Amino acid sequence: MDDIELENFKEAGKLAARLREESKSMIMVGESLLDIAETIEKMMLEEGARPAFPVNISINDIAAHHTPEFESTMTLGEEDLVKIDLGIEMNGALSDTAYTVDLSEKNEKLVEAAEKALEKAIAVIKAGVAVGEVGGNIEDVIKSYGYKPIANLSGHMIKSNELHAGVEIPNIRTNDPYTLQEGDIFAVEPFATTGNGYVEDLEQVEIFSIYSPSKVRMRQSRKIIEFAIKNYGMLPFAERWIRKEFKSKLLVSAALKELLQNHFIRGYPVLREVSRGLVSQAEHTVLVTNDGCEVLTK
Ligand code: CO
Repeated sequence: MDDIELENFKEAGKLAARLREESKSMIMVGESLLDIAETIEKMMLEEGARPAFPVNISINDIAAHHTPEFESTMTLGEEDLVKIDLGIEMNGALSDTAYTVDLSEKNEKLVEAAEKALEKAIAVIKAGVAVGEVGGNIEDVIKSYGYKPIANLSGHMIKSNELHAGVEIPNIRTNDPYTLQEGDIFAVEPFATTGNGYVEDLEQVEIFSIYSPSKVRMRQSRKIIEFAIKNYGMLPFAERWIRKEFKSKLLVSAALKELLQNHFIRGYPVLREVSRGLVSQAEHTVLVTNDGCEVLTK
């Protein structure tokens, strides 16, 4: 990565951090999920950035990949444990950060477990440390609170224009041999749960991305794919963004189905904790250095 790229990543990190902090005032009982997501996404565009993915608002036992539907009427309830995960793209640089708000005020320890696990991970990350060792530290902190880390969700390396660049930082101790290198950029995202510590796919899919081009039969599918490539490139997009442009629910869902079947796009199903446990999350994007790491989304 050259100096200009690095500067772009630092800028993207600063903006993601600012939008994260500004968004916190919206996380209140009675707020509309759609308003929250759209407001954050609008703020990104106004700053000359783009959403790196649709703003994720995942509640209670939903761990990730939930973004409101088009015309969703869902609102936040007083028992809700709310995870906001947001990412921005600016000049090819990506930044990813998340937090949890406990509207019930009964799950503060669960929120703290993910936050402290993230702090600990940041404290141990430096060039030469194995990613499985970072995962071990995350696991230990979460278990010390009496909860479980989610074993099948992990942090991920980020490169220019590539949000998931292959290498992962697990949330549990593993033998993964990859050792962190100076200049690596990672999103670190511990998830803590009162449940068994695994997520599973639900049938509901709100988020998609371009996967591999192939022939499509329907005219509507071709129009949607052209629109998605032009506006989102390889970045994930929401069905509600497509619906805004192409109105008809019937046509859009038929087209997305065809595109999925042909592997032209891939879907990211909503992820729910298998035993319906509550889930908390904390996330920062960090730059690995020789003697530690720099938190880009501080
Ligand atoms: Co994230």
